[in-house]
Amino acid sequence: MAIPFSDALADELLETYGSPLYVYQAERLNSTIAEITQAISYPKTQFHFASVTNGNIALLKQFLKAGWGLHANTPGDVYLGLHAGFEPHQIVYSGSHLSREDFEQILNWGVRRINLDSVSQVQQCSEMARFPIELGLRLNLPEITGESRIGVHPSEFRDAIAVSKFPITGLHFYRGTGTNATQAFTQVVDTVIATAKQLPDWSVLDFGGGFGYPYRKEGARFDWQEFGASLNQKLSGIDLIIEPGRAAIAESGCLLARVVSVKWQGEKQIVGVDTSIANLAVLAVHGGYREIVSWKDSENYLSDVCGNTTYSRDYLGKGCQLPALSVGDPIAILDTGAYGYAMSSHFLHRFRPAEVLLENQIPRLIRKREDYAVLLERQLT
Ligand SMILES: Cc1ncc(COP(=O)(O)O)c(C=O)c1O
Repeated sequence: MAIPFSDALADELLETYGSPLYVYQAERLNSTIAEITQAISYPKTQFHFASVTNGNIALLKQFLKAGWGLHANTPGDVYLGLHAGFEPHQIVYSGSHLSREDFEQILNWGVRRINLDSVSQVQQCSEMARFPIELGLRLNLPEITGESRIGVHPSEFRDAIAVSKFPITGLHFYRGTGTNATQAFTQVVDTVIATAKQLPDWSVLDFGGGFGYPYRKEGARFDWQEFGASLNQKLSGIDLIIEPGRAAIAESGCLLARVVSVKWQGEKQIVGVDTSIANLAVLAVHGGYREIVSWKDSENYLSDVCGNTTYSRDYLGKGCQLPALSVGDPIAILDTGAYGYAMSSHFLHRFRPAEVLLENQIPRLIRKREDYAVLLERQLT
């Protein structure tokens, strides 16, 4: 992602909405949605945005407007989706380890397509459903899913069918998150189809997420055209569901912050910023890299960008190349639209930032900044 807007706008946004600040660009989001949609020309395709990556309802509405459905991982995902305006039939639920309360809740909300993770979950869900539902199985086949806790092995299909009062029509394949190698998907399509055919009522193939995003520009990039061509060649008759998460939304978001301190350790610049890994937890949880940019146009220096806590892992970027920065300068942590705000927490007891959506460079506040009161909410003395 190039720097998405001018330094003047960055300053204005930080002044108006406070620093740090999540900023999303509607045009970027909509062009990515269009690019993915157009790449998969198989006629019976339905896209469902995986809102585990970002649950802001103003952003979910962009997917709804583009004709996508929603993919839910938890009842909370469904709740947000319904508030964004998705109809229950536009929501696909693929879950693990749902309690009876979870099943009751999502069934009461009217969710009809549910992919499950074990024979016992199929039994519970099917016993509790008081209207016909479309059931699918999440696939566990170590040759292609790798060793994973997720899914049902084909040797258990027969048991799942036996305990279900509804036909099992779906097979759900999850590749594991952040896969940029297109072949990791295209090479397994035949095996997934052959496995799905072991379900006598199979009519839906769900490719559930894992499509990568190239956070390092020089790295491999998932090729949607190649993936689409491969599906087109191999599928016929069945319905196809695609559940992109990060691939759809990562690029449209950035986390803006201001420099609060600069010091030098020999040749290296240590830049302190007014955000922390609690606002962008994905780096501390999964590791990984997000490009950090400033608007200054001068020689670059080796720099570490650190959060505003003493937590030893509070690094937003290590070994970055940045100009010599000064207190007050804005910086942007790019490509943070996915697993950014959604994974933020009150760890370190700093409150969460606001979120703003830019449409034609015009900002709209889509989530208010928290304040200290949030740290006391629900505490009892
Ligand atoms: C079933 C399912 N679908 C889609 C996604 C979205 O994944 P990604 O952001 O890797 O596309 C996830 C993420 O956990 C998932 O579990």
